[in-house]
Amino acid sequence: MKISENVLQLLNEQIAIEANASSYYLSVASWCKVNGYDGAACFFRAHSAEERDHMLKIIQYLNELRIHATIPQIEQPPQEMESLEQAFKTALQNEQNVTKSIDKIINAAQEENDHRTDTFLEWFVNEQIEEEDLFETVLQKFDVIGRDKLALHEIDKILDKLKTTT
Ligand code: FEO
Repeated sequence: MKISENVLQLLNEQIAIEANASSYYLSVASWCKVNGYDGAACFFRAHSAEERDHMLKIIQYLNELRIHATIPQIEQPPQEMESLEQAFKTALQNEQNVTKSIDKIINAAQEENDHRTDTFLEWFVNEQIEEEDLFETVLQKFDVIGRDKLALHEIDKILDKLKTTT
């Protein structure tokens, strides 16, 4: 096999992490829509699709090495959100965990002189910088604009615009 069992296991785990992230964002999008946050619903729906793309990138990488990727079982995401802000806090926490898990795979790949996996994951390193920045930027809006109904409406409008740049 072209990569080690250890790196393969970590990449398969990453496939599951991306799949679960996609599922979580879809659940948040659904909650947002029925609670009147149409902009946020679009934002999270688009972000769910991005996470699916991340999962597909890893599957494709393994397949190009003629390795069968493990397609994971999806965990049931939370159906109810405490608030729009809390959904973003959880999202940021998830993204920080994703960054750590990408770092872990890179460390393993480097230890094994697996340059192709190391190089392949560079894209994910940059993506995580963007994603953490995005969720931190949105969370700051709650401090800057506020948390009352009018402020949430403004934030929802901002999210509708932001979705096109995510
Ligand atoms: Fe695929 Fe948001 O990390």
